[in-house]
Amino acid sequence: MTPEQSEHRVFLNRYYRAARPIYDVTRKYYLFGRDRALDVLLAAPWSSLIEVGPGTGRNLEILQRRRAWALYGGVEAADAMLERAAERCPWAHFQRAFAEDADYAAVLGAPPQRILFSYCLSMVQRRDEALQQALASVAPGGEVHVVDFADLAGLPGPLAAGLRAWLKMYRVQPLDPGWLAAHGAEMVFGPGRYYVLARWRR
Ligand SMILES: C[S@@+](CC[C@H](N)C(=O)[O-])C[C@H]1O[C@@H](n2cnc3c(N)ncnc32)[C@H](O)[C@@H]1O
Repeated sequence: MTPEQSEHRVFLNRYYRAARPIYDVTRKYYLFGRDRALDVLLAAPWSSLIEVGPGTGRNLEILQRRRAWALYGGVEAADAMLERAAERCPWAHFQRAFAEDADYAAVLGAPPQRILFSYCLSMVQRRDEALQQALASVAPGGEVHVVDFADLAGLPGPLAAGLRAWLKMYRVQPLDPGWLAAHGAEMVFGPGRYYVLARWRR
């Protein structure tokens, strides 16, 4: 673990230990597009999925309810969230690791067919490394899916600026669609370009 990762984990643990009890109730009002991303995922056949930064396990729980026969895993940097996700999703396999250098094949014993980042990539410190690690680790024929804050270009200027400033306090940096396009993502935007669904096929 690098000193940067160690410092990030300290921040995440402090932040999420405080936020964990109210996480699911509050996030439904601003982490938009998550259910749409899950619908997109479930529209295709696959039997193994790893979520990076599963948080409280909300997305994994919904996916497992709708596709119970698949194998599920999570790669999570924060102990505070890992504990909650493991409690909530006892059927899933978890790795305490960072997106930048996680060993995906070790989580489920084989490369996963799908990797999901749901409002995680915007918090990751080394975004390029995290994306490359996921793309290199997903099974042949598999896909990497992202749902996250986009460039907010369709929102009134002061609202977008206020939201950006507020997110920055929690180390969240919305995804730049130019960066996604340069990395070959297929993209669909939510209203106001508040969120983006991005996908890579291997
Ligand atoms: C905003 S929460 C999203 C949680 C969940 N995916 C959801 O949609 O509700 C971001 C999650 O990413 C995790 N995270 C942040 N940086 C990470 C990193 N570098 N590697 C792995 N997980 C990370 C956080 O600990 C947290 O659980």
